[in-house]
Amino acid sequence: MTTGRRDFVKLAAIGGTGLGLGGHRLSIFSRPRRAPLRILILGGTGFIGPYHVQYALDRGHKVSIFNRGRTNPGLFPDAEKLVGDRASDLKSLEGREWDVVLDNSATDPTWVERSASLLQKAVKRYIFTSTRSVYFDTSRVPMTVDAPVCTRENTPVEAGRPLPYCLAKALSEGVVRKYFPDNHCIVRASLIVGPGDLTDRFTYWPVRIEKGGEVLAPGDGTDWVQFIDARDICEWMIRLAEMGTTGTYNGLGPKQPRSFAELLHGIKAVTTSDARFTWVDAEFLEKHQVRPYQEMPVWMPSKGNRAGFARFDISPEIALGLTFRSLAVTAKDTLDFYHAQTPERQERLRAGITAAKEAEVLAAWRASR
Ligand SMILES: NC(=O)c1ccc[n+]([C@@H]2O[C@H](COP(=O)([O-])OP(=O)(O)OC[C@H]3O[C@@H](n4cnc5c(N)ncnc54)[C@H](OP(=O)(O)O)[C@@H]3O)[C@@H](O)[C@H]2O)c1
Repeated sequence: MTTGRRDFVKLAAIGGTGLGLGGHRLSIFSRPRRAPLRILILGGTGFIGPYHVQYALDRGHKVSIFNRGRTNPGLFPDAEKLVGDRASDLKSLEGREWDVVLDNSATDPTWVERSASLLQKAVKRYIFTSTRSVYFDTSRVPMTVDAPVCTRENTPVEAGRPLPYCLAKALSEGVVRKYFPDNHCIVRASLIVGPGDLTDRFTYWPVRIEKGGEVLAPGDGTDWVQFIDARDICEWMIRLAEMGTTGTYNGLGPKQPRSFAELLHGIKAVTTSDARFTWVDAEFLEKHQVRPYQEMPVWMPSKGNRAGFARFDISPEIALGLTFRSLAVTAKDTLDFYHAQTPERQERLRAGITAAKEAEVLAAWRASR
């Protein structure tokens, strides 16, 4: 184990578990056959970045990470650390060359304008971490990368406020395409989940189900659900870098369509919980102000302008080597990560309905039957 890897695992132990390098070990067969790449990662120390960095190091690449040095600064002593600020200071990137840049940290198209213009002649390919949120319209079934995205015309911007996320990321993609017209790779990730995720969106479900008892479950169980384990998407993005892949892709799974009932029962299967699911229809939840995706995280009713939200055709991505850990691995590693956090942090989940409101809605549902 390298020092970098030791620190990575140590960070996981502070915030969680063994970051679920997940029982996934590199075999001799999965090592790259190509020459090592010089990879610049803009970001690298938050949730998904460490998975990129570690996987790239494990595969023999030379990694430089660029950030402000604030988030988890002790990570990865084996990687080159370049300090700066995407908003104001890119000096440490000047006069350098890399094979690939992987841009994780952009939340503002002006940041991408600065980095892409500076790196245009200094790197061979620009890989951009984008998001499913760029889609203006997710009504299509199946969804594909050519569905309409947010634009200045269709997305209102409030004066003096930051750009809405969908627009900021869609415009950022445009900047990447402008400076790297033939050599960009854009990956639009869905919700990214797994150990290390501090948003608790997916985490809500394993934690709630493990507690047991009557669990408020949204809809009738037939709504579709797609998300991606951070390790699956990050490892794939490094392999895309190795293959020299260009173009725009979606990053989500699993391979076969999964319903919400399959999701909740699949999570329950990794616990010894006595959880019982009470499926409450979407209209009733709406009437009781239970918001999809926020109080019922990960869930979006598969209808109307969200009909395709979890119905992406991912055959192009699978053909390019996107693979998926099992739900059991993701759920178990997420639970382990949760249990390794402090009791105070465990009590303050950042997503999901409160226990009091859940009980209230379940009681109202029973009374209405
Ligand atoms: N989480 C999801 O479900 C999800 C879904 C779809 C897409 N995404 C995309 O995933 C990306 C974020 O992932 P992540 O946060 O896990 O990435 P990360 O690369 O692990 O962490 C973000 C990095 O950005 C650096 N950073 C922040 N502000 C900076 C600045 N002003 N200048 C330079 N560096 C800065 C941080 O370090 P310092 O603080 O030390 O600067 C940190 O290293 C975003 O592009 C987001 O759109 C996420």
